[in-house]
Amino acid sequence: SVRLTGTKYGCGGGGCGACTVMLSRLQPATRTITHYSVNACLLPLCQLHGASVTTVEGVGSTKTRLHPVQERIAKAHGSQCGFCTPGMVMSMYTLLRNRPQPTMEDITQALAGNLCRCTGYRPIIDGCRTFCQVQNCCQKGEQNPDEPFLPLDPTQELIFPPELIVSANPKTLTFRGERVSWVSPSSLEELLQLKARNPEAPLVVGNSNIGPGMKFKGVLHPLMISPTRVTELFEVTRTPQGVWVGAGCSLTEVWSLLEKLLPQLAEEQTGLFRALIRQLGTLGSLQIRNVASLGGNIVSAYPNSDLNPVLAAGNCRVSVVSAGKRELPLNQDFFVSFGKTILKPEEILVSVFIPFSRKGEFFGAFRQAPRKESSFSTVTTGMRVFFSEGSRVVQDVSIYYGGMGPTTVCATKTCAAIVSRPWDDETLSQAYNVLLDELVLPLSAPGGKVEFRRSLTLSFLFQFHLEVLQKLKEMVKYKPKPLKWTTSFVFFDFSSTPLLRLLLLQHVPKDQSDQDPVGRPIMHRSALSHATGEAVYCDDLPATEGELFLALVTSSRAHAKITGLDASEALRLPGVVDVITAKDIPGQKARKLCGYEEELLAETEVSCIGQMLCAVVADSRSHAKRGAAAVKVAYEDLPDPAVEKSSFFEPRRTIERGNVTEAFESVDQVHEGELRIGGQEHFYMETQSMLVVPVGEETEFNAYVSTQFPTLMQEAIAETLSIPSNRVTCHVRRIGGAFGGKVVKTAALACITGVAAWKTNRAVRCVLERGEDMLITGARHPVLGKYKVWISRDKTIYSQEGLLIMLLKFLLHFDNAYNIPNLRGHAAACRTNLPSNTAFRGFGVPQSLLVVENMVEDVAALLRRPAHQIREINMYKGPSVTQYKLEFSPENLQRCWEECKLKADHGARRRAADQFNRENRWRKRGMSIVPIKYGIAFSDGFLNQAAALVHIYKDGSVLVSHGGTEMGQGLHTKMQQVASRELHVPASKVYISETSTNTVPNASPSAASCGTDANGMAVQNACQILYQRLEPIRLRNPKGSWESWVQTAFYEKMSLSATGFYKGPDLYMDWDKKEGRPYAYFTFGVCCCEVELDCLTGDYRTLRTDIVVDIGRSVNPSMDIGQIEGAFMQGLGLYTLEELKFSPSGLLYTRGPSQYKIPAVCDVPLRFNVYLLPDSSNPHAIYSSKGIGEPAVFLGSAAFFAIKDAAAAARSESGLVGPFSLNSPATAERACLACASPFTQKIPASKPGSFKPWALNI
Ligand SMILES: Cc1cc2nc3c(=O)[nH]c(=O)nc-3n(C[C@H](O)[C@H](O)[C@H](O)COP(=O)(O)OP(=O)(O)OC[C@H]3O[C@@H](n4cnc5c(N)ncnc54)[C@H](O)[C@@H]3O)c2cc1C
Ligand code: FES
Ligand code: FES
Repeated sequence: SVRLTGTKYGCGGGGCGACTVMLSRLQPATRTITHYSVNACLLPLCQLHGASVTTVEGVGSTKTRLHPVQERIAKAHGSQCGFCTPGMVMSMYTLLRNRPQPTMEDITQALAGNLCRCTGYRPIIDGCRTFCQVQNCCQKGEQNPDEPFLPLDPTQELIFPPELIVSANPKTLTFRGERVSWVSPSSLEELLQLKARNPEAPLVVGNSNIGPGMKFKGVLHPLMISPTRVTELFEVTRTPQGVWVGAGCSLTEVWSLLEKLLPQLAEEQTGLFRALIRQLGTLGSLQIRNVASLGGNIVSAYPNSDLNPVLAAGNCRVSVVSAGKRELPLNQDFFVSFGKTILKPEEILVSVFIPFSRKGEFFGAFRQAPRKESSFSTVTTGMRVFFSEGSRVVQDVSIYYGGMGPTTVCATKTCAAIVSRPWDDETLSQAYNVLLDELVLPLSAPGGKVEFRRSLTLSFLFQFHLEVLQKLKEMVKYKPKPLKWTTSFVFFDFSSTPLLRLLLLQHVPKDQSDQDPVGRPIMHRSALSHATGEAVYCDDLPATEGELFLALVTSSRAHAKITGLDASEALRLPGVVDVITAKDIPGQKARKLCGYEEELLAETEVSCIGQMLCAVVADSRSHAKRGAAAVKVAYEDLPDPAVEKSSFFEPRRTIERGNVTEAFESVDQVHEGELRIGGQEHFYMETQSMLVVPVGEETEFNAYVSTQFPTLMQEAIAETLSIPSNRVTCHVRRIGGAFGGKVVKTAALACITGVAAWKTNRAVRCVLERGEDMLITGARHPVLGKYKVWISRDKTIYSQEGLLIMLLKFLLHFDNAYNIPNLRGHAAACRTNLPSNTAFRGFGVPQSLLVVENMVEDVAALLRRPAHQIREINMYKGPSVTQYKLEFSPENLQRCWEECKLKADHGARRRAADQFNRENRWRKRGMSIVPIKYGIAFSDGFLNQAAALVHIYKDGSVLVSHGGTEMGQGLHTKMQQVASRELHVPASKVYISETSTNTVPNASPSAASCGTDANGMAVQNACQILYQRLEPIRLRNPKGSWESWVQTAFYEKMSLSATGFYKGPDLYMDWDKKEGRPYAYFTFGVCCCEVELDCLTGDYRTLRTDIVVDIGRSVNPSMDIGQIEGAFMQGLGLYTLEELKFSPSGLLYTRGPSQYKIPAVCDVPLRFNVYLLPDSSNPHAIYSSKGIGEPAVFLGSAAFFAIKDAAAAARSESGLVGPFSLNSPATAERACLACASPFTQKIPASKPGSFKPWALNI
């Protein structure tokens, strides 16, 4: 209601950081003010009593004064779609409030919990690092090195509101809501009484467990108790044996306390403290640690809590009170079952005792998580061993694991096998076997990854073994015989390694006018509005009177008949206005695509979990959601048609070059392989959002939709409502990321919202929650690729055949950069009972090319030759022809290849990596260099058209409209540059307000990497028409100003408005003749990547990435480099990190950032260099540029192949050589198992089909 829309909502569960704000509180004990970043989405409003909240609007604005953080992130090109930017700004701003001169480590810590799907983080980090103490090249503005950034002046920050500096309020605070009451007692006594009367009421401290439970699992707590004013819960008391820490202290406070105590104690006393600090460093994100309490973590009893195993191994105790007081050891008896401890419901945990360690006592703390930071652990552990002085015989040992069962578990038998024995290889070898028998997980255990989890328990014990051996060396002068596997074992801490970057922007010609912005690294035209939170996204639009909210009811069955749908209960709920079913749709009830129909709302049968059934409209979001939850659907299950039943969509496609059958006769070697590539969630930061407003007369609607294809929205709504298209106007101002995912499903959602608006005659808003969005809207297609390759003696790939379960773009790209003379590909799309998938950046190409390159890697492994040599031998050279008979020149592909090898210092680094691998057993380095040839434009020729409308107003300002949408790729900025050049006016005179179907009709989608190519030509055309129209006036008054010419034109009754049109190339593909010209040109690129892999855990870090891309003459190099970096990181996510997990019954488990990990700051290569190929041009696109939106996604595969290379090095230590299978994504689990270490080999392999897996391998 206060219209502060800058803070964004991306997930609601504390996992994305888009909602970050700064909270400031007066600490009653010290009377100091603390500032900390928090996730607004998890912060209960009642918890804010006495606190001050600073949102991005309070930091700075374009109207008054920008804050240096906002300015620097924007100027460093750290904002593309801008949806993550306010959160980034707030994380960094809070850091600066606490540390005006932060270190790089502070910055990466502060940003670890903020996700960005567009930029790849490098520019955000570069913007922030300008605040670092160490002077560096980024501390001057990039556009003008002489103009420094705004200085940071901490004295100018907002002060803590004096009205909040009041003495503690002794009264009980009570807040009552519609269904929940909130009580905040002011003393322990009062708290105990309250808890005794209401034992089931939770204590809410950080709300990081209670909050997600209420939001996502529908748990309702009618009474919530906030103990944050009870001082006993925050007290810290030091004793001679250790320290009592208040259970209410946040994890950040615990960390600072332990850090503070370190220098005050002897080193031997700090073993447990260090182990806890190690875990705290990667536990959740800073925003989570700032609120999550120590007591909350313990009592939540998560199976994979990172603290509990360490606290338990460290002999910690807790003090609990209810009517009486008792002290309990934190051991295996404390943790009873999933989420349960032995505490009685009325008991309150007051404080936790963390003992000092003793001489001869050593601690280990290890964790392995799907992502290095801001991710729950897969397996986590705390270990302690105690030796009496001068001895290496174990006196006491304690080993706890998380992630190995429903709660924290103690490996008691393993400890028994170690105690009273010398700490050496023999003891430990036996301990591994005991551990293996002791911690057995059922093959269908929740969370899956059973083999990996079991192997991690061994790996962690082994790592602890090595660490303890080092310590024993010093303590008892024990010289362990060098372990076969331990040569040069190194623990790396990458967090302190600075990020290095090198961007080579192109040079503009010397004679180009200073005013002409084309070819220059102009900042995104909305970057400052993004950074100040002023940029308006769909859900930021103010509510209109009587507006309703729409929530969807989706199928909970994968394949079933709908036997009943009862909305009566929902309709009785407060605020619920109506329920929309298929029967309410006045026009077309289904959307047709590629000849197949998809119902908007299922009527009789469902074919996947998540299929939309009906929609509830209510006066608020929460009422609509409650209404949707109350709709009852009855089903009758139907059998599932699976892949084995050959349920393929038609037509299937084949393409062939040469004669594969004949070629088979004359080859030396044949190899067959297979690769599975998992799907990928778009994870645009702004979920699907729309608002449909009836205009009030003649069935006219305004649809505000976050979409890449406004024309489709207009058509679809019109067809659904059975009205002409001229009654619907679709408006798109900006989109918070799309990546292909805001076209087809968005249209279905817009249609349903349109029906609701039509039926109720009120404005209806629909904004999906992250979980719904992931469930409903589909993802990148998963692929099963099979190949058979014939290899000739000269190492060329003679022939290749592929069965790829996807279609056209696959087949058109599956030669990639190689001139394979005989090549045949078949592709088919499967019908499944999973949500229908959709376009995602590259649309099939990233999958197709991975199969091809995997085949190349196999060939190299078979021939025992480096993969890059096989690539070079087979690469297109000289005038070339594709498998669909398109002639092209691969000269720039070759140039990119050579340039990338040179820039990356490929030869020397390859040798250094091999040397490293010879010296290290448990860490291996892998390198890979991968090319791409990517076809640009729509192969459906009719889509290659664009239009623009340009108005010049009397004051000389210019309004440009075109058919493309701004989704972060910087299209509007580039169009501004085009208009500026063509009209010879400064870019500041040109404005672009929105994309709308009433200014530019029938526009193509912003997709296929050709937005700039097509719209740029249309804008150019319109501007040239106008500029020529002004020519007589210009000639009459050559010294006149632009404004004077425009005014003269007006008085001379000259039209100052023009449309521009671009008729693009007539591209086509004739699948019967298997030939065509489906692309206008190719974008080429090469990426070289080096990773270091921890073979014991599968954890990897990208050490360096060098990319050379041929994008002709870039219209805006900073924007294009942004696209390359962002796409590379998305590719890195696709191939190494992001996993969609489905239950055997077809339910998507991974429905939010807590379960689905996209790359975060911790995944950025330590060195990340992007180079644009110089001296390249392209006659097919505006100003000789090339499209780049999609191609670089595939370059992320270089990380995949580098991991595979490192795994191959590890396998060779176990005597395994030759091709091996590693499916995509190469997650830590897959990479670790591929390394085939002695630990993974101890785990008996599961027999597929012998058990029901927790998740399907799709
Ligand atoms: C995005 C995200 C990432 C996370 N990542 C990790 C991770 O990597 N590793 C990890 O270990 N944890 C992780 N967590 C979990 C987090 O650490 C815990 O949720 C948190 O510590 C719980 O503390 P809280 O104060 O927020 O608890 P609340 O949500 O406020 O309360 C949780 C429960 O504890 C009870 N409780 C709280 N205090 C007391 C007390 N003093 N006496 C008795 N009962 C009490 C409450 O009654 C309630 O049942 C993550 C959480 C989120 C949301
Ligand atoms: S919206 Fe709060 S963390 Fe995602
Ligand atoms: S700019 Fe970060 S999500 Fe788009």
